[in-house]
Formats: sequence, structure tokens, C-alpha cells
Amino acid sequence: MNLGVSQKRVLIIHGPNLNLLGKREPTIYGVKTLEDINADLCVHARKIAVQLEIVQSNHEGIIVDTIQQAQGQFDLIIINAAAFTHYSVAIRDALAAITVPAIEVHLSNIHKREEFRHKSLIAPVVIGQICGFGSMSYILALEAAATILQQEA
Ligand code: DQA
Repeated sequence: MNLGVSQKRVLIIHGPNLNLLGKREPTIYGVKTLEDINADLCVHARKIAVQLEIVQSNHEGIIVDTIQQAQGQFDLIIINAAAFTHYSVAIRDALAAITVPAIEVHLSNIHKREEFRHKSLIAPVVIGQICGFGSMSYILALEAAATILQQEA
């Protein structure tokens, strides 16, 4: 319910190859497409009166630009940087450069997988990480975002 307080604005960023969800390694990432996940997020956001904008890009520079432009436009970022999580200093630095808080999300439990996925360069610059719950990771992140933003209001 929106009690007249202005709605909080949350930006969701999906990184590389997440546009292939549904077809891509479904035993790891599930059978939902990115469109299915985004639709679920929009339904949930409406229920909790949060305004969502959703961006997917396979390009590191576009993700860096998107993060920079979030300053002053959004109250919180939810980001699945996908493979960039493990090696992009540029995305880490962009998140550190802005004052908009962020939550890191992964569908799979990156700590249970290959060793190169255990390291997240963005983990030290976000509020926290939610991983391993499939598409529910995003809903849990949205719930966390709404709770955090409500506490601030
Ligand atoms: C992922 C995990 C990453 O290691 C991988 O490169 C992805 C997806 C996930 O959501 O589980 O592309 O971020």
C-alpha cells in the first residue's frame, strides 16, 4: 500500500548472458526466461509499491554507464553482474563511486561452483549478497531493498 509517501525507485541490472535464461544451462539457472523473471519482479514491485526500472546488457561499459547514471535517479540498485562479478574492477569501481546502495544477486550459489566463481569483486562495495535461490534470489533482494528503504524513510 502506498500511503502517499513517494515511491522508492529501484534499478535492476542484469549482466551478460542473462538474456539467454531459460535456454542457458537450465539445470544451473532454471527454466524461467529473463522476461518471466522481470514480469515476476514487476508484479512483486507493484504489491510493495516500489518503482522498478530493469536493464540488461552484455557490455561492461554500458553497465558502468548505467551505474553512474543511477546517481540521483534511484534509491537502490539490485545487480546480477553475472560473469563480470568475478573480474570487473570497472563495475566494482562504478558501484563504489556512487552513493546509491546496491544488493548483489546471483541465481546460482557461486560459492558451491567452480573456484573462479567464489570471488566477487563487487561484494565489498554492496550491502550484501543473495545467491543460490534461483529466480527467487531477485525477489528476496527486492524484499530486502524495500525493507532497507522503508527503514530510511
Ligand atoms: C551468475 C553466476 C555467475 O558466475 C555466472 O557467470 C553468471 C550467472 C548467477 O546468477 O548465478 O552468468 O551471476
